[in-house]
Amino acid sequence: MAGENATTAGIAWQKMVEDEHAQSDRIREEAPSDDFWRPVAHRFVPPKKGESTPDDTVKKLAGLISPSDSVLDVGAGGGRLAVPLAQYCSHATAVEPSEAMREQLVATANAWDVTNLDVVASTWEDAVVDPHDLVVCAHVVYTVTGIEGFVRKLVEHVRKRVALVSFERPASATYLPLWSYVHGEERIELPTLPQIELLLSEMSINYEKLFLKEWISRPFASREQALVECQARLFVIPGSEKSEKLEAVLEDSLEVVDGGFRLKWAEPHRPLIVTWNV
Ligand SMILES: C[S@@+](CC[C@H](N)C(=O)[O-])C[C@H]1O[C@@H](n2cnc3c(N)ncnc32)[C@H](O)[C@@H]1O
Repeated sequence: MAGENATTAGIAWQKMVEDEHAQSDRIREEAPSDDFWRPVAHRFVPPKKGESTPDDTVKKLAGLISPSDSVLDVGAGGGRLAVPLAQYCSHATAVEPSEAMREQLVATANAWDVTNLDVVASTWEDAVVDPHDLVVCAHVVYTVTGIEGFVRKLVEHVRKRVALVSFERPASATYLPLWSYVHGEERIELPTLPQIELLLSEMSINYEKLFLKEWISRPFASREQALVECQARLFVIPGSEKSEKLEAVLEDSLEVVDGGFRLKWAEPHRPLIVTWNV
């Protein structure tokens, strides 16, 4: 779907994503892993069934459907939304290309005793699925180059409502300050809410915004876990000179919090649902 953008916003979006990807390719110390999400997939699962969470996304999305509705979650990750949402609808489908994410998703669905959820191993661009009443797509579009085709396909597969969940700032914002220490350059940012709004307006989609509660990512369980996740986010290989720089900067940058360690400048995410009826 790359190259299909026709609007000014779509073309500008594609350039942002391509520039970010080109920087990643230039900077990475080893060939890209065949599953970028493996080191962090455990972060994209819901809490244990019955446990509370500060994130009200599921509650807000559940308020948009009735029990007889079906839900399609595009880029469902480890089932953070799809697994709990399956309990509020007749049937759910999760489209997810990453094997590591799907492993988490299936394990979580089993742990939650969810049996009305189908998993489709595919990108959205290649997925073959039926239309559903609600189509959810949470924190996926940021890296999509053919964004207009991607959004059009969401619209073509929905019977009632689309819900794009986004952060106001990029999800990777927490890791950005590490870039100049380790790579000696600023990280190019991916498109996020301002670009989503411009794009939808140019595509003549009339959306509304439902603001969600702020929440902060779960801490790293240990210093070692922090290093592994930051190495993956910064494309640095263990034992390299840059990895040593990263280790040194993490020494001063991690603070002890309840449940582990957090980068001391980490701020809460400010998520919202950008939604429209069809
Ligand atoms: C940041 S995670 C978000 C996961 C989940 N939606 C959530 O909010 O917890 C992004 C997910 O989008 C998936 N993804 C990336 N590009 C995709 C595409 N073109 N089609 C479908 N899923 C995609 C990734 O594999 C990953 O699981």
